[in-house]
Amino acid sequence: MTLTIDSTVTLNNGVEMPLFGLGVWRSGQGSETENAVKWALETGYRAIDTAALYQNEAEVGKIVKSGIRPREEIFVTSKVWVDNLSYEGTKAAFDDSMERLGLDYVDLYLVHWPVNDWQGAWRALEEIYETDRVRAIGVSNFLVHHMEELLSIAKVRPVVNQIEYHPYLQSKDLHAYCKGQGIPLTAWAPIMKGKVLDVSELVSIGEKYGKTAVQVTLRWMLQTGVITIPKSVHKGRIEENADLYDFELSAEDISVIDGLDQGNEGRIGIHPDEFGK
Ligand SMILES: NC(=O)c1ccc[n+]([C@@H]2O[C@H](COP(=O)([O-])OP(=O)(O)OC[C@H]3O[C@@H](n4cnc5c(N)ncnc54)[C@H](OP(=O)(O)O)[C@@H]3O)[C@@H](O)[C@H]2O)c1
Repeated sequence: MTLTIDSTVTLNNGVEMPLFGLGVWRSGQGSETENAVKWALETGYRAIDTAALYQNEAEVGKIVKSGIRPREEIFVTSKVWVDNLSYEGTKAAFDDSMERLGLDYVDLYLVHWPVNDWQGAWRALEEIYETDRVRAIGVSNFLVHHMEELLSIAKVRPVVNQIEYHPYLQSKDLHAYCKGQGIPLTAWAPIMKGKVLDVSELVSIGEKYGKTAVQVTLRWMLQTGVITIPKSVHKGRIEENADLYDFELSAEDISVIDGLDQGNEGRIGIHPDEFGK
């Protein structure tokens, strides 16, 4: 199947989620996030990944509503922050996020980290899912043991698990587990915060196609069915990061990238079991 910027994954509840989108962690309030989201939508991006933590839901909502493209063509994700991980806390946090976003519905709402009373938070998400204010619910930073516990208590299956994922951290066991459960991964820090540019194997593969190591990395994710949400606040990079559809990595290239995994040594962010400790 030919990949395009409109390519989607069918989630386990039937909702179509774009394989590619823009992340806005550390995109500043005001014009920085507004411009990034505007340029992304104008470039053809169809998904925006925000969170209560990022303090830019209002900017995301404002541009999503601005009519650059119809609301139903845009997939908006937000997340409940750890301070609000309880049944009551999450219900209130969702209302606050919706108020800031100013949207009638959010496409996907995630538990941001598996800490505190995330089990109570999941119950709240299940109730919110019964309303027409969210189209899908999922989790982020869940390891296999969190997924097992979640699936043992869930009445509504999570549709995705958003984790740190890039050439140096491929979490192959977790990936296989989630795949087996019909739960795709979304990659955060997909381009290792820009550091993929220093990975010689990725640079060499890119040279064959006239592409950057960033583009090679993102294309690898698309070809292997991993949803990806690179962040940038620069127009040129927002365009570069989406210029992924005029080349195809060979099976050999993919196996070279698969082989770059460094396991936990490759992790940039916090290990989910260490969060808050
Ligand atoms: N669920 C979670 O716990 C979690 C955690 C972290 C992130 N996320 C989500 O995942 C998204 C992506 O992750 P991330 O923002 O941490 O990291 P990332 O997308 O891997 O990297 C973003 C960094 O790379 C730079 N960059 C972007 N495009 C580039 C290019 N073409 N060439 C060189 N540098 C480039 C950006 O700088 P400029 O902006 O200056 O261009 C920024 O500093 C976030 O924005 C957020 O939505 C989720």
